[in-house]
Amino acid sequence: MMPTETTVQTVSLENVTRTYGAVRALDGVTWACPRGGFTAVMGPSGSGKSTFLHCASGLDRPTSGTVRIGGADIGRLSEAKRTRLRREKVGFVFQAFNLVPSMDVEENIVLPLRLGGLTADRAWLEEVVRRVGLADRLRHKPPELSGGQQQRVALARALVTRPEVVFADEPTGALDPRTAREVMALLRQVVDMTGQTLVLVTHDPAAAAWADSVLFLSGGRIVDELAGPTPDAVAHRMEAL
Ligand SMILES: Nc1ncnc2c1ncn2[C@@H]1O[C@H](COP(=O)(O)OP(=O)(O)O)[C@@H](O)[C@H]1O
Ligand SMILES: [Mg+2]
Repeated sequence: MMPTETTVQTVSLENVTRTYGAVRALDGVTWACPRGGFTAVMGPSGSGKSTFLHCASGLDRPTSGTVRIGGADIGRLSEAKRTRLRREKVGFVFQAFNLVPSMDVEENIVLPLRLGGLTADRAWLEEVVRRVGLADRLRHKPPELSGGQQQRVALARALVTRPEVVFADEPTGALDPRTAREVMALLRQVVDMTGQTLVLVTHDPAAAAWADSVLFLSGGRIVDELAGPTPDAVAHRMEAL
């Protein structure tokens, strides 16, 4: 019998290491991502946050240990199968938005589907567009949009495939504080209303405090986890790292 949805972890890491030459960017990380949860990953610069995200999302393979996405052990997949798994099960939001400037908003949003040879489920596309507040911007091109609007497009693009997990790497890093707050509030709303699982990498305590739980990385290891974070509690914990 297939395991039921609730027993399957979306993403899990078991004793994962990733080395670059002599540098242990990740050093024995074990973690299971709770389904429907919003987890922030924090740590000082160089602590391994981006490496964690790259390994957990299947962009990269661990040097040792096991990463599972939707039940599949990514270390055992060919490059082509790993790419397909990522396309189907994972959504990404990056600091730099990574939109195609010559395509309009709708074309950017449906691009991951097109790359996978799929067409959009119109009803879901419309819901995503409405949720991120872009219904009246579909024919605009990214250069005609504000930073906050561009990040909304990137979020819609990440959601359109109904991924198991959305990974966001410093998604508010290029935004002013007010716009950053708006984008974080929107991410929180998407998690609460759609049950989307979200993993957010950030170095900003105010951003991390929107999560259900915060993982703290130092020297490539998970050194602490804080549930129900507040900006003050997160900042205080960071000072001790
Ligand atoms: N492609 C790479 N080549 C060599 N070293 C790297 C590479 N990526 C990351 N590192 C090293 O791994 C460590 C963790 O980096 P990273 O995951 O980017 O940390 P963070 O995102 O927390 O700033 C750092 O010491 C960094 O210099
Ligand atoms: Mg980084």
